[in-house]
Amino acid sequence: MSKVFITGVAGFLGSHVAERFRDMGWEVCGIDNLSGGRSANVPEGVEFDIADCLDRASYLPLISGSDLVYHCASTAYDGLSVFAPAMVFRNTAQATADVASAAIASNVDRFVYCSSMARYGALSTPFTEEMEPQPANPYGIAKRTSEQLVQSLFETHGGTYSIAVPHNIIGPRQRYDDPYRNVASIMINRMLRGLQPIIYGDGSHMRCFSFIQDVLFCLERMGTTPETAGETINIGPDEEVISILELAERIAELLNFPLDPIFMPDRPLEVRLATCSADKARRLLGYKTSTSLNDGLRSMISWIESQGPTEFNYQWEIEIQNESTPKTWLNRLI
Ligand SMILES: NC(=O)c1ccc[n+]([C@@H]2O[C@H](COP(=O)([O-])OP(=O)(O)OC[C@H]3O[C@@H](n4cnc5c(N)ncnc54)[C@H](O)[C@@H]3O)[C@@H](O)[C@H]2O)c1
Repeated sequence: MSKVFITGVAGFLGSHVAERFRDMGWEVCGIDNLSGGRSANVPEGVEFDIADCLDRASYLPLISGSDLVYHCASTAYDGLSVFAPAMVFRNTAQATADVASAAIASNVDRFVYCSSMARYGALSTPFTEEMEPQPANPYGIAKRTSEQLVQSLFETHGGTYSIAVPHNIIGPRQRYDDPYRNVASIMINRMLRGLQPIIYGDGSHMRCFSFIQDVLFCLERMGTTPETAGETINIGPDEEVISILELAERIAELLNFPLDPIFMPDRPLEVRLATCSADKARRLLGYKTSTSLNDGLRSMISWIESQGPTEFNYQWEIEIQNESTPKTWLNRLI
């Protein structure tokens, strides 16, 4: 039996990847420090330790004997990273150095790094993999640094790696009480509690959302096929680009909610138009969009309803507080 080790296994992506490999008959294990994930997300049958990626020695015994590693753990905060750069960089770039080092020391065959479209910064859209990355904020810089670390370490010491670049994935198990990220989840959680969604700027920022079930096959192939070794591939659709205001309108329609959004000043370094080309994923991974945005949103709504909408958790220290720090965070308005 093959063995896979997954970091961030109690988070959104990590828990779904774990479930998929478990269902394929793999031995699945993983770690999470529960800063963003929940133990309840870890699928049954998965061996799980509460451990921090930064504490390398603590998970060396668990990673031992693994054929494949998915490094999904990160404090994945685009906007917040501008105001909490030390925390985000540590849990993204330093954490990757620790996990990649542990994987190489344990002789794993393949390492899949979950990067982010933040690697592209404000390049012209749609972002394609051959573009020279130009990350603009600390999160994007930490993701790009991590990619380079992974590439350098695996090219030097052997084993293969691939870089998955997911973008705006939505679906059940995504955290919805986090005021700093996951725009669709935040809007659903607020509307279910009778609160108007908050929109930064005029809502014209354009995004393209992917549904988790549509991207899992691709993530699996990033770790299991020879043709993806050494490749960087955008993971997600490029068909249904939507503005943040339209997203609020869609959710309101699905919830039958009388929409009157609250507009707040734009956040610094927020990219206006961020969409990725899916051509390489279609070519190398057989990517196909099967779930419409509305169906994806419906499934998230039912999940959040089943868990119960809740108050937001302001767990992170805002390291830099000045006139550009969003008031929504400083004054806990979300
Ligand atoms: N979901 C998306 O739309 C999306 C888009 C682009 C990139 N990504 C990347 O995919 C990965 C997974 O994202 P997600 O949406 O599942 O986020 P998530 O927050 O649900 O999962 C990340 C998990 O990592 C854990 N974690 C954070 N720091 C840790 C540390 N130091 N040690 C151990 N565990 C730690 C958290 O507790 C959490 O459970 C991240 O690397 C993220 O940057 C996700």
